[in-house]
Amino acid sequence: MSTAKPASVPRQRLGAPLVLHNIHKRFPLGREVAHVLRGAELTMNASQIVALVGESGSGKSTLARTIMRLYTPEEGTMTFDGQDVTRVQGHALREYRKRVQMVFQDPFAALNPTHSIRTILKRSLPPGLWASLPAKHREELLRDALAQVGLTPPDNFLQQFPHELSGGQRQRVALARSLAARPDLVVADEPVSMLDVSLRLGVLNLMLSLNERFGIGYLYITHDLAGARYVSSRIAVMYAGEIVEEGPSDDIVEHGQHPYTQLLIHAAPDPERVADSSREPQAETFTGEPPNLAQEIRGCPFQFRCPHVHDRCYEAIPTFHDVGSDHRVKCHLYDQ
Ligand SMILES: Nc1ncnc2c1ncn2[C@@H]1O[C@H](COP(=O)(O)OP(=O)(O)OP(=O)(O)O)[C@@H](O)[C@H]1O
Ligand SMILES: [Mg+2]
Repeated sequence: MSTAKPASVPRQRLGAPLVLHNIHKRFPLGREVAHVLRGAELTMNASQIVALVGESGSGKSTLARTIMRLYTPEEGTMTFDGQDVTRVQGHALREYRKRVQMVFQDPFAALNPTHSIRTILKRSLPPGLWASLPAKHREELLRDALAQVGLTPPDNFLQQFPHELSGGQRQRVALARSLAARPDLVVADEPVSMLDVSLRLGVLNLMLSLNERFGIGYLYITHDLAGARYVSSRIAVMYAGEIVEEGPSDDIVEHGQHPYTQLLIHAAPDPERVADSSREPQAETFTGEPPNLAQEIRGCPFQFRCPHVHDRCYEAIPTFHDVGSDHRVKCHLYDQ
């Protein structure tokens, strides 16, 4: 392995596949059990940017934490780069976590306030790398990490502490830290939602450029459909612990097929979307609440809110149907 400028070597490869199959996660909730992930299915390559969208409480963060193996699912399988990582422990888990990193919503909580940026970055390097490098290259490595995320000149930032930086700068440090271990994939759970609107685009553009330059993939979790479309090649829509639709981002935003996706599009109009009023649901046709996760649901989880609900929706859980190129939806409207 070359140690000269390790963080800036571009990767020319197709990313490792991450495949989640039928993932279930339950938590004790008093005397009941909250069944939060209910058969989630997701496939992505760790060189893509995939956005995971869905309303609050749909299980996005739980899925992110399960991917990071902060939670272990009770059912289902998760493979990364062909290896089953659903229940791995010890060395295999540490190896996996080097390749898959996470960035959290609150960059301040994520950075140790008593450490300088230098220390924070240094501690995130792969074990042994720091000691193996000549002093000159160590400095270069830290400066590169900051320059890559647009914190220049890097020397100004290395000695600073998290509280001396703005929110946007802190989130850039969090991204630099996630990159220092040179992962394949970064799971970014609402990385811009706590930032000022004026800073959000900068962080999204940074993700795009890191994806292009280093082939780093992102699972970008967000409420913001327009931002999801801007940054991602694919969108997965989550409802009540399941992925109910996934496909190419433009396709999802312009031709979302699941009634829930249509609700999301309707609730957050995208100025670039081609208006098609014949297909758009009326806001008043959507009533009801997300399901109570402590109760098992018979049939489709969206039955309580769906304007197109019919008999079958109360009886059977929908399965995926292909509705276009690389576009699939879990809804009985598409049953043949
Ligand atoms: N450890 C836990 N114990 C019990 N219930 C939990 C636990 N973690 C999450 N939940 C419940 O699971 C549901 C999904 O939570 P989660 O944080 O994954 O949603 P989310 O989609 O990330 O929402 P948001 O958009 O608000 O961040 C919520 O109803 C939450 O209360
Ligand atoms: Mg969340």
